[in-house]
Amino acid sequence: MKIVKTRHPSFPNVKFDELLKIKLRKRWQVLCGDKEHYRVGIYSPEYTHREEIKILEKHDCPELFMLIDGEMSLLIIDDKGKEKVVKLKPLRPIFVKSWHNGFCPNGKYGGVSIVVERDEFTTYYKSINELKINPKGVGNV
Ligand SMILES: [Fe+2]
Repeated sequence: MKIVKTRHPSFPNVKFDELLKIKLRKRWQVLCGDKEHYRVGIYSPEYTHREEIKILEKHDCPELFMLIDGEMSLLIIDDKGKEKVVKLKPLRPIFVKSWHNGFCPNGKYGGVSIVVERDEFTTYYKSINELKINPKGVGNV
């Protein structure tokens, strides 16, 4: 299992009170944040089918996703190894705590979601095969 620690500075400095630019066709872009509180990013996965996803991630805190354009689904696997695919909908945010990864059924980068998470946290990565054998993982994360 791979572990990545996100620590300050985890978001760019931006001009306050002005419109920000979003880079399209990019898997992950951190937009802005508030030190010791949250950061906001734009997520747009390159995968187009559930079968393309081989690795899932999980954080030591929940994160919020909300679709803002196109189509996107999240593959979610819980601590018992039970899998589900959730089709995201605009204005219907989802607060994710389990293992997850995303795909865009209408084509590469064909959906865009806003993501809100802490500015400092730890991410655990596991392959689907590993998750089926040991879904709870190290330290019961
Ligand atoms: Fe995540």
